[in-house]
Amino acid sequence: MIDLNFKYKNLISEVKSSAPFEPELAIILGSGLGNFAKRVDIIKTISTSNLLDYPKSTIQGHEGKIHFAEYSGKKLLLFQGRIHLYEGYSIYQCILPVFIAFKLNCRKIILTNAAGGVNPNFHPGDLILTTSFNGIMLKKELTNLIGISSEKGKKNFVNMPSQNLSILIKQAAEAEKIEMKEGVYWYTKGPSYETPAEIRFISKFGGDAVGMSTVHEAVFAGYLGIETSIISCITNYAAGLTKNKLSHSEVTETANLVQHKFERLIKKIIEIL
Ligand code: HPA
Repeated sequence: MIDLNFKYKNLISEVKSSAPFEPELAIILGSGLGNFAKRVDIIKTISTSNLLDYPKSTIQGHEGKIHFAEYSGKKLLLFQGRIHLYEGYSIYQCILPVFIAFKLNCRKIILTNAAGGVNPNFHPGDLILTTSFNGIMLKKELTNLIGISSEKGKKNFVNMPSQNLSILIKQAAEAEKIEMKEGVYWYTKGPSYETPAEIRFISKFGGDAVGMSTVHEAVFAGYLGIETSIISCITNYAAGLTKNKLSHSEVTETANLVQHKFERLIKKIIEIL
């Protein structure tokens, strides 16, 4: 097991020394959802390319910026761009945003992502609140990351995703008259999209939405005792559900279309936090 405090000592001290405040909520903005950063007051931005040891994003739509921001009197930490295993990075690098939030004493996080709809009731443009997730493909990596969990670490998973945050998110959706569906997020390793046969497998075993991120961030955040929620934006029907061939541009295009709804929801969540 790698000692993250040791590995990222310099990076964390650099982030801490430029932090204008301790954030009360961190948000990781998924594929095509990064524009939310334009809707809040940015107090300070760190470009991750200036942080030694911070992995470089290799994907279009993932900008590599960490923003300290304010909205509705709340102090926020926004990650515009995330790091994926399929980019060739290790699990230690992929959970860096969560680790940074933790080291800044932030104890609430909302993880957002773009996902394929497996459940036939999910359509492109839908926003989904994750009720549970499947990270079976990641068990080995996660064991390497958190090792033999402490009693406290184990207990934290009982409230995963956070019940409090889920209630708050549903209240925000209701107030904004945004329909939010609920379901199970299923992690796949990528790097390619799934095959129709894989999607049939996922569907049979209870997956509602499919994507290549987030689960390791959620597990690590839960382990650290951070209240965690996941919101997915359905950007496409999963492979085999339609005749369309999936592409990253379809994912970002739909995410762009749904941006406005997504932003209204996140703003309301922050207001009532
Ligand atoms: N599969 C995996 N990841 C995704 C998808 C998908 O269909 N859509 C957006 N991210």
